Amino acid sequence: MSTVLQGLRRAVVLLLLPLALLLLPTAAEALQWDAETLTVPADPSGTTVTFSETEIKSGRKIFNSSCGTCHAGGITKTNQNVGLDPETLALATPPRDNVEALVDYFKDPTSYDGEVSIADVHPSLRSADVFVKMRDLDDEDLRLIAGYILVAPKVQGPQWGGGKIYF
Ligand code: HEC
Repeated sequence: MSTVLQGLRRAVVLLLLPLALLLLPTAAEALQWDAETLTVPADPSGTTVTFSETEIKSGRKIFNSSCGTCHAGGITKTNQNVGLDPETLALATPPRDNVEALVDYFKDPTSYDGEVSIADVHPSLRSADVFVKMRDLDDEDLRLIAGYILVAPKVQGPQWGGGKIYF
């Protein structure tokens, strides 16, 4: 009887071990989402905002479904020079490396030099008649997308934006 129990216990341990190993990477990922990671510039003045993990995850969901066809992984498929990595965002005119500037961009996007509106060719609230996916997005959704774009490189590192800013 006790050998049966011992065998049973061994079987349970053998089953749980691979299960625990499977769950480990998830735990490691969760650890990266600390307050520092979730804190990003709110506006050009240097004010910061700390998002919750839930907010960033819904931002990711909206981003992937509304913007993923062109921007999956933080790159821009149809214009590799204008990626969503922090360096490229920072060098735009005006700099787009903060929530306020990004939300502004999603309402009325401008060329990289800030000279002209590109709302007719880039999805935005202004062009929601052409880009139907924009119709369902409200200001809060735009804020969450911006949060995701700014937090993603801190979580994904070099992978976000194709890695061209890291060497
Ligand atoms: C049809 C493809 C396409 C879709 C869909 C799209 N974009 Fe873009 N995006 C582009 C292109 C092309 C550019 C570069 C525009 C330019 O010439 O300045 C760009 C530029 C940007 C920039 C400026 C990047 C920088 O470094 O200055 C941001 C921010 C951005 N997109 C966010 C979004 C978001 C958020 C969505 C979803 C709501 C989205 N885009 C949907 C193609 C797309």
